[in-house]
Amino acid sequence: MSKVSLIKIFKHRITQKYLRRSGIHHAISVAKLAVRLAEERGVDPEIAAKAALLHDMGHYEWYRDGKWDYKEYRKHDIHAIKGAERAHKLLIRLGEDRLMAKEVSLAVLLHTDSYLPFSVEGQRTAVQQVVADADKMDEQPGGLHHYKEMEFDEALTHLKKLDEAIVKSTSIHLENKAAE
Ligand SMILES: [Fe+2]
Repeated sequence: MSKVSLIKIFKHRITQKYLRRSGIHHAISVAKLAVRLAEERGVDPEIAAKAALLHDMGHYEWYRDGKWDYKEYRKHDIHAIKGAERAHKLLIRLGEDRLMAKEVSLAVLLHTDSYLPFSVEGQRTAVQQVVADADKMDEQPGGLHHYKEMEFDEALTHLKKLDEAIVKSTSIHLENKAAE
């Protein structure tokens, strides 16, 4: 585990600003699912968790005239591009390892291909696929998953557990590697 924990990322004012728009509940749920899938599939749970937590931080303009216009939003959507850039900038600012920041940013960029003129199905790396799958698992029709609420303290409790799980599975991962 690097020195940049999920808790540290989550508490940062930039994370708070953007995750409040796209939904803290969704971010935490996807992070939890991503860690579970990463462990099942033997991929790096730290990259998966960080990307999952930040995957929707590029969302913008949720409302028009006080109303959420989903169709209009989809038409102009580049949230994954914005999210990848914001996630990378934030992580570097927090002192994240550069390779980790890049991996996380790429997983954010490719968590969906709904904004691209082509599909990336079958093209993602294992960890990128974990983030995409975890996001899908928490999705609800009409973007309703973005409106589920979660208190700040509850989010911290979940993230603390995830940080601990990541430390544990990273050390198991390293032990397995050493034994090879
Ligand atoms: Fe999402």
